[in-house]
Amino acid sequence: MLSIQHLSKFFGKNQVLTDINVTVHKGDFVTIMGPSGCGKTTFLYQISGLDRIEHGDVSLNNQSLSQLSDNQLSQLRLENMGFVFQKNQFLSNLSLIDNIVLPALQLKKEAKKEIYQHAYDLLETMAIADLADMDIRQVSGGQLQRASICRALINQPDIIFADEPTGALNSQMSLEVMSIFQKLNQEGRTIILITHDSHVASYGKRCLFMKDGQIISEIIKEETEDFLLNIEHEAKKLGI
Ligand SMILES: Nc1ncnc2c1ncn2[C@@H]1O[C@H](COP(=O)(O)OP(=O)(O)OP(=O)(O)O)[C@@H](O)[C@H]1O
Ligand SMILES: [Mg+2]
Repeated sequence: MLSIQHLSKFFGKNQVLTDINVTVHKGDFVTIMGPSGCGKTTFLYQISGLDRIEHGDVSLNNQSLSQLSDNQLSQLRLENMGFVFQKNQFLSNLSLIDNIVLPALQLKKEAKKEIYQHAYDLLETMAIADLADMDIRQVSGGQLQRASICRALINQPDIIFADEPTGALNSQMSLEVMSIFQKLNQEGRTIILITHDSHVASYGKRCLFMKDGQIISEIIKEETEDFLLNIEHEAKKLGI
């Protein structure tokens, strides 16, 4: 589904990603761990078409992202991809639900009424429906994090990119949010998720470890007896 080949990225003279090769299949649940500053967010921005690719290639369903115009790329993202960002990107002059429906209003695939109903249903699954009409500034970090998952899901994307979606949550809430991601994955959605937390990473099917802009190892759940323990060992080695 997502094919990443020889991907490198420079910020000026600073090489942040070096020759990354990864294939992600439909229905995969890939987690990425690595020390702060190793290039995780940069990698996610590159493979999701948020940044232009300068070196190497990223293809989604055999369509190279580099060959798309800016408009085509935006359309592809709206239709196929959901994003949960490291820093939440809500507009403070809109209510919670008005923020969540934005990607759907842009896509215009459904009538406004249906979009709002769908958003409301999502808020209910995240147990924050009572906050629908609240001002963004009145909502807690954990609630916002759950709201950002609702927004990522509003267009029913095939693939979800999440950058530390549990970063602002306590451990109980983190695991609840991860159960939600796991359920979404079981429903067939592909997930690529960055985390600093081994427990969080163990909810995936594969864990990739990054260091200095390279993928240096991978642990596959099916191939290990104790997935969490293996992740913890590797994370410790990397000083995460
Ligand atoms: N827009 C930018 N311009 C210049 N350098 C950048 C830019 N964005 C990131 N970098 C640099 O690229 C490197 C990787 O940053 P990135 O944000 O991808 O790391 P990360 O692994 O996501 O870290 P963290 O775990 O702290 O979120 C860092 O050295 C950072 O300073
Ligand atoms: Mg980051």
